[in-house]
Amino acid sequence: MSNGPHGIADIADWNRLLEGRVAVVTGGGDGIGGAISALFAAHGAVVEVAEIDPVRAERISREVTAVGGVIRSHVVDVTIDDDVTRLADAVLGTHGRVDVVVNNVGDYRPLVGFEESTPQTWQRMYDVNLRHVFAVTRAFVGAMIAAGSGNVVNVHSVEGMRGFPRDPVYGAMKAAVAHFTTCLAVDLGRHGIRVNGIGTDLTQTPQVDYLTGYEDVEHLWQSWAPVGRVGWPEDQARVALFLASELSGFVTGHNIPVDGGTKAGGGWLFSPRAGRFVNRSKHL
Ligand SMILES: NC(=O)c1ccc[n+]([C@@H]2O[C@H](COP(=O)([O-])OP(=O)(O)OC[C@H]3O[C@@H](n4cnc5c(N)ncnc54)[C@H](O)[C@@H]3O)[C@@H](O)[C@H]2O)c1
Repeated sequence: MSNGPHGIADIADWNRLLEGRVAVVTGGGDGIGGAISALFAAHGAVVEVAEIDPVRAERISREVTAVGGVIRSHVVDVTIDDDVTRLADAVLGTHGRVDVVVNNVGDYRPLVGFEESTPQTWQRMYDVNLRHVFAVTRAFVGAMIAAGSGNVVNVHSVEGMRGFPRDPVYGAMKAAVAHFTTCLAVDLGRHGIRVNGIGTDLTQTPQVDYLTGYEDVEHLWQSWAPVGRVGWPEDQARVALFLASELSGFVTGHNIPVDGGTKAGGGWLFSPRAGRFVNRSKHL
């Protein structure tokens, strides 16, 4: 090859990796989505938050604006098609384009075993974890294709990347998001659009309270994650920034577990008592 590397986008400012990019973040008012909104804005993105909770929507706008970020919140329910249309009209009507879409909304509740599940719980898992990923992506993909560039980041779960016995229907919905990510990336690659996913686990957010029912919390957290700590929304946001920016310009169709090593560790948990990783142990 002559002329050295080409086709690699310039990074003008490594502290402003999303300068001027229009970024939609669903569920961007709190938890992982909130951290993504804040980090993207700190890196120069114009953040458009889709948030069902008006209090969270207002709060993230206030917090990001207070530190000089550019953000607008839309109070929408992404499981309702008319709301998704309203969101897309507002974003595309204002900017005429969208550069990044982060599909982050999802929920494991109500957590039911398969034998207790019903058509109603299946529908709920579908609506809150999968259907809106199709709807929101579909609403913005035309503008990305027209622009010849774009970036989609889907936040799903490690439970979609391994066996999840507690709620197989939830696991199946997350796996569907992960595989939609892979398929769409191939479909859209020649349009300059990259699509990647994040397999989240063990991250402390309003939705997840690992404290409930456990007395010796530190002991358990150290045991659950090979890295020896719980995850935070900021851990997820940093990977979302990597995927949404030119740092990952040659990465598409992949799902990255952001889990402190839980997927890699499989059935191995750290035993403070034994001072080593163990499996098939009666006592941690
Ligand atoms: N926290 C974890 O450890 C963990 C583990 C696995 C997967 N995940 C996934 O990560 C994503 C984010 O989870 P989180 O823990 O930050 O959740 P969270 O509940 O703490 O935050 C979700 C945000 O989305 C908003 N929201 C909920 N439903 C909405 C809707 N229909 N329309 C618009 N906004 C809506 C909520 O108000 C909230 O601000 C989800 O897809 C979740 O399934 C999280």
